[in-house]
Amino acid sequence: MTTAIYPGSFDPVTMGHLDIIRRSARIFSHVYVAVAQNPHKKPDFSLEQRRDYLLKVTRDLDNVEVITIDGLLVEAAQKRNARIIIKGLRAMTDFEYEFQMALMNKKLGNDVETLFMATSTKYSFLSSSLVKEVARLGGCIDGLVPEEVREDILAQLRR
Ligand code: PNS
Repeated sequence: MTTAIYPGSFDPVTMGHLDIIRRSARIFSHVYVAVAQNPHKKPDFSLEQRRDYLLKVTRDLDNVEVITIDGLLVEAAQKRNARIIIKGLRAMTDFEYEFQMALMNKKLGNDVETLFMATSTKYSFLSSSLVKEVARLGGCIDGLVPEEVREDILAQLRR
């Protein structure tokens, strides 16, 4: 019985995120999807919107729970008895920053381990920032974000 936590900005959720959530849900008994603040980014979607989109797209996953956190990730993990932090890795460009965060999280909470999951090849080019750029410029985002939330995302970005 292992509980894991998958944190991110999810600004907004993409098919790449959902792929990691689904694969994690098959491995761990319980998965918290934690919408967190990245101090280096100013989000385009509110915390509530990001959480609501995740709730919608994970509705069919019984062992997945969406939460929001506003402090340290490690503390949120420890509080919920989650000993594993899951991070999706797209390419080597992600690695340096993710590795640094993994080491810092280990320093802050020695009992919490970071596990990296390789993104599926078909989503390896995908990022929330690129989705937003394409949507704002009138491009098609079919297949890049979950269908249930696509129209809401487009409406928000094209206002
Ligand atoms: O999707 P992102 O923006 O790459 O996710 C980054 C995130 C939100 C996981 C990271 O900024 C984070 O862990 N924020 C919570 C605050 C925290 O614990 N900061 C110290 C990280 S070593």
